[in-house]
Amino acid sequence: MNSLGRVTVKRIDNNLVQKEIYSDTDLGQSIDFDDDSYQKLSKHHDFLIKLKQIDQISNSHIIFITEYVDGVTLHNYYSNNQISYNEKLSHFNQILHWSAIMFNFSKNNQQMGKLWRPDSNQSLVYSHDDMHFENILITKNGKLKLIDPDAFRWASLSGFYINMIRGLHDGIRQIYPEF
Ligand SMILES: Nc1ncnc2c1ncn2[C@@H]1O[C@H](COP(=O)(O)OP(=O)(O)O)[C@@H](O)[C@H]1O
Ligand SMILES: [Mg+2]
Repeated sequence: MNSLGRVTVKRIDNNLVQKEIYSDTDLGQSIDFDDDSYQKLSKHHDFLIKLKQIDQISNSHIIFITEYVDGVTLHNYYSNNQISYNEKLSHFNQILHWSAIMFNFSKNNQQMGKLWRPDSNQSLVYSHDDMHFENILITKNGKLKLIDPDAFRWASLSGFYINMIRGLHDGIRQIYPEF
């Protein structure tokens, strides 16, 4: 979540996490989040956590209930372990592949994007706009999961490229620290 405000994340039972967002600004009547697209995309791709429920309490207070992932952030994982080159490359490839999945989904669901960005006269990409190592969890089995689902947006193509670069930047820095 990028907007200014306060976020609290807590586990509410074995399998669920509650993310509560208080925004400093009035978000308007409805939140800027396309749940239909998220559900459609996450149904077929388990690198995305399941989003169970969204409760908009007020124009500046929203609660997301998601699947709990037993894992650590990729940021902490890289800080606390020696990671082999092949494993780094595999993470990098997965993140790149996620971007391809988002792009492909968007290509096939432009009409959903138009509902959210009716004024846009260009193609839109449903993409995660905060895709860095703090928002990726790694499980004990080595599976990567992208969290912070509220960061999904229908972005312009240039916005998508920027999101993608942000996601890949951490990976490139890990593989080639001299960059
Ligand atoms: N579904 C989840 N399962 C396990 N831990 C989570 C989950 N969602 C968030 N977390 C933990 O809470 C932290 C903050 O959550 P996140 O959704 O990224 O909030 P923010 O919007 O503040 O970045 C994450 O870095 C992670 O450690
Ligand atoms: Mg986050």
